[in-house]
Amino acid sequence: MDLFEYQARDMFEKHGVPVLAGEIATTPQEAQAAAEEIGARSGGVTVVKAQVKTGGRGKAGGVKLAKSGEEAASLTEQILGMDINGHTVHTVMIAQGAKIAEEYYFSLLLDRTNRNYLAMCSKEGGMDIETLAVERPEALARIGVDPLVGIDAAKAEEIVEAAGFDDDVKAEVAEVLQKLWVVYREEDATLVEVNPLVKLEDGGIVALDGKVTIDDNARFRQPEHEDLVDQKAEDPLEAKAKAMHLNYVKLDGNVGIIGNGAGLVMSTLDVVAYAGEEHTGGKSKPANFLDIGGGASAKVMANGLDVILGDEQVKAVFVNVFGGITACDAVADGIVGALKSLGDSATKPLVVRLDGNNVDEGRRILSDFDHPLVTIEETMDGAARKAAELAAK
Ligand SMILES: Nc1ncnc2c1ncn2[C@@H]1O[C@H](COP(=O)(O)OP(=O)(O)OP(=O)(O)O)[C@@H](O)[C@H]1O
Ligand SMILES: [Mg+2]
Repeated sequence: MDLFEYQARDMFEKHGVPVLAGEIATTPQEAQAAAEEIGARSGGVTVVKAQVKTGGRGKAGGVKLAKSGEEAASLTEQILGMDINGHTVHTVMIAQGAKIAEEYYFSLLLDRTNRNYLAMCSKEGGMDIETLAVERPEALARIGVDPLVGIDAAKAEEIVEAAGFDDDVKAEVAEVLQKLWVVYREEDATLVEVNPLVKLEDGGIVALDGKVTIDDNARFRQPEHEDLVDQKAEDPLEAKAKAMHLNYVKLDGNVGIIGNGAGLVMSTLDVVAYAGEEHTGGKSKPANFLDIGGGASAKVMANGLDVILGDEQVKAVFVNVFGGITACDAVADGIVGALKSLGDSATKPLVVRLDGNNVDEGRRILSDFDHPLVTIEETMDGAARKAAELAAK
């Protein structure tokens, strides 16, 4: 999960990384009140910053200096609703205005290829870091960081040396890097980026912008991160599936897919995509990934169908189950139960391929139920083709 800048700012503050005052606003009135309060600390000057989870906000006109509360309000009015790289601005942050002497760059990220962390640091930070990285890569220091050690005093010193910082700021920058490591470790981040990290005119070092990505696999030990989820942006079907503890990912096609086991579901997506190309001229594509898991009950099957049938784009559903721990008769019961509870609101055809544990009993339950929308297919390829054709109709 990527965080908004204001969330990163709060996280930095919690772990002792120096930041400036900042408050979010969703209306010009709120922005004015925040700017009057915060501006009092910086000669009336604040910065209105679009809160969107994408880079290049400044270049897109989403970061603007305001010299008064009224100006902050009118800039907020301009920035709210703005589209930045396909992200609509719903919130701004009113940040204390900084008198910047120098802009630096720092990031720490997961380096999968080297099974390590990687710190990148430059004393030439700011909005053009991407260009710098390409045109003058030597100006961007890259230092590996051992996950078991992290950024201790020695590592911090190595990084600031490699980046060539001036003597007067070295110690303080190194101090901040060690605190950013604490953020990275304590919050289970996979990315912490500060661009710019600035030296103020009065000499202090401050993180003026922050990007943090949280490792979703560590959510179970970070319960307070639930509050950071952007409810507005969450897909409603994915949210519903999550509430039912289903492994569901919404895709863009028209063939709903349910299977048991991530491997089987992945290959089902492939087979449906192939059948769609081959037999419908590309009209049919997988609409989702849904793994009901091994040992799934009839109830889980019914929940899965409920989510998939709620997807307006879905025109046909392919249920592909290989009975192992989950017996095919339980899956068939789940399908029957779901169709019964849906009654007349079930209008989409279901192609079912069952195999493995208790397959005969499973198929018997479905054929006895004899529902007009249900087709039983023996093979995965045959079922994929049938579902693709039904969806393309
Ligand atoms: N509080 C502030 N006071 C003064 N100047 C600021 C402040 N915040 C940002 N700036 C200036 O605006 C520039 C852009 O701000 P920021 O880094 O937050 O956005 P951005 O880099 O465009 O966004 P992104 O990092 O998403 O690409 C900074 O490099 C800095 O010069
Ligand atoms: Mg930035």
